[in-house]
Amino acid sequence: MTTATMSEDLQELFDTTIADDQRIEPRDWMPEGYRKTLIRQIAQHAHSEIIGMQPEGNWITRAPSLRRKSILLAKVQDEAGHGLYLYSAAETLGADRADLTAKLISGRQKYSSIFNYPTLTFADVGVIGWLVDGAAICNQVPLCRSSFGPYGRAMIRVCKEESFHQRQGYELLMTMMQGTDAQREMVQESVDRWWWPALMMFGPPDDESPNTEQSMNWRIKRHTNDELRQRFVDMSIPQAEALGVTFPDPNLSWNEERRHYDFGEPDWSEFRAVIEGNGACNVERITNRRAAHENGAWVREAATVFAAREREGSQK
Ligand SMILES: [Fe+2]
Ligand SMILES: [Fe+2]
Repeated sequence: MTTATMSEDLQELFDTTIADDQRIEPRDWMPEGYRKTLIRQIAQHAHSEIIGMQPEGNWITRAPSLRRKSILLAKVQDEAGHGLYLYSAAETLGADRADLTAKLISGRQKYSSIFNYPTLTFADVGVIGWLVDGAAICNQVPLCRSSFGPYGRAMIRVCKEESFHQRQGYELLMTMMQGTDAQREMVQESVDRWWWPALMMFGPPDDESPNTEQSMNWRIKRHTNDELRQRFVDMSIPQAEALGVTFPDPNLSWNEERRHYDFGEPDWSEFRAVIEGNGACNVERITNRRAAHENGAWVREAATVFAAREREGSQK
């Protein structure tokens, strides 16, 4: 068999696997573009989980009660766990974790733009749980059926925890809404700040998202950015009504014909500016992440030496 026909066979096997909605596993042959796209997407996702610990971590020492503090600690710790599953999934594609971290702290790989906004009040903890984790769920539930096995399986567990995060955020806001006027105002002010950035989490509009089509053909992605954004808007409006808050968009209205809510256009120039590094907290987030990495160097060195000693010991 010639090399050419062998690689054609491999491509055909890959295509059939995708067409049959079966999974591609790490040892299977896959096109280089598929591998690269997945590494980029999974790394970006992992980085978002890890950087996403910072905005809420900001409130751990100032949580208003022991109950709220322990909930918040558990939630932030979950996000660390999500990052670790995802780095492991990227490693099954041949990526090196140290290299991914180096790319994050040198700005060569991105993370979600949402985590470059500051958390100014405790209501932000609730709103992040409700809207940011809520948007993450909309994005991630279809990823449970991603064609790449390790990614899809990691997403199943991540989504279970995300839905818990969303409910804790909503419960926190419900509690605040039943409190004083000042607390209700704090919630509304927070919703006003986070609504548009949450809509931007789905990425640019479909006609400006060049990779979407290929990712959908590979069944990495199952829905377009605009479809998911619409789903999120439709889901959030009744929740806002139950809570007693409004979204800062005069164009929100039910469209009977489409059976969906109409909504306004996010400020895409703001989105691009944040992605390019000019959001309120980009520098702070990366500086913190770099410091944590550097301060952890001795732990990595000690673990490496320990592992080598263990190996030596077991050879004797
Ligand atoms: Fe997460
Ligand atoms: Fe979360």
